[in-house]
Amino acid sequence: MSVPILEVLDLHAAYGRIEVLRGVDLTVPKGAVMALLGPNGAGKSTLVKVVSGQKRATGGDIHLGGVHVTDADSAELARVGLCTVPEGRSVFPNLTVQENLVLMSYAGVPADAVLDTAFSYFPRLAERRHQLAGTMSGGEQQMLAMSRALASDPALLLLDELSMGLAPLIVDELYDTVAQIAESGVSILCIEQFARTALRVSDYAAVMIGGRIVATGEPAEILETMDDVILGGVA
Ligand SMILES: Nc1ncnc2c1ncn2[C@@H]1O[C@H](COP(=O)(O)OP(=O)(O)O)[C@@H](O)[C@H]1O
Ligand SMILES: [Mg+2]
Repeated sequence: MSVPILEVLDLHAAYGRIEVLRGVDLTVPKGAVMALLGPNGAGKSTLVKVVSGQKRATGGDIHLGGVHVTDADSAELARVGLCTVPEGRSVFPNLTVQENLVLMSYAGVPADAVLDTAFSYFPRLAERRHQLAGTMSGGEQQMLAMSRALASDPALLLLDELSMGLAPLIVDELYDTVAQIAESGVSILCIEQFARTALRVSDYAAVMIGGRIVATGEPAEILETMDDVILGGVA
């Protein structure tokens, strides 16, 4: 087997004295889409924060493409190919669509290439390139957030609750694009409340409860054995 794109070993993290990640072990194979499911408060977003360098681990190790990156800062993580779409919409509301995208071209990728990638995945963004991001629908803002993450040609994309506050039809559309992005060779870890939608485009799934991964497997297997946990809220 090739080196996994992401390997998390016995990872711990806390807010003050409250430990929220309590020994997370998770492996995302290169080229795979993995869904990370689990109830509210399980620690999924905290895991995203620690992996993406926004929060320090209190113990454990993280490897990205074989490189040890525990405690690496965002710039170092970007260099090894990590890109994150955090929970909530990470766009600048008072800038236009185009300005939001061009801002991402600092990393050496030319602005034209950033725009081309965005518009090929999301033609709707091309129509709206001069619109202020904050005046677009939630789904369109999420398309823009994903496009910003794609700008630096990531090896691993972390997506935290793309579906937040969006209508099921739009969520389906976003996940169709997630599948297309994966086909281009990007590995993806997607955290999602809409378990069925995420599992539809995933090769593997993991379930987190109480700060630990309690199950990992293929989507059908996870749906069958963990249905009470992962379909508890929304399907
Ligand atoms: N900034 C914070 N300060 C204190 N506690 C937090 C903070 N963010 C999250 N938590 C707590 O950590 C736990 C895990 O939260 P989170 O990682 O957001 O879970 P999930 O994304 O799975 O819903 C929850 O109990 C939550 O209340
Ligand atoms: Mg969360």
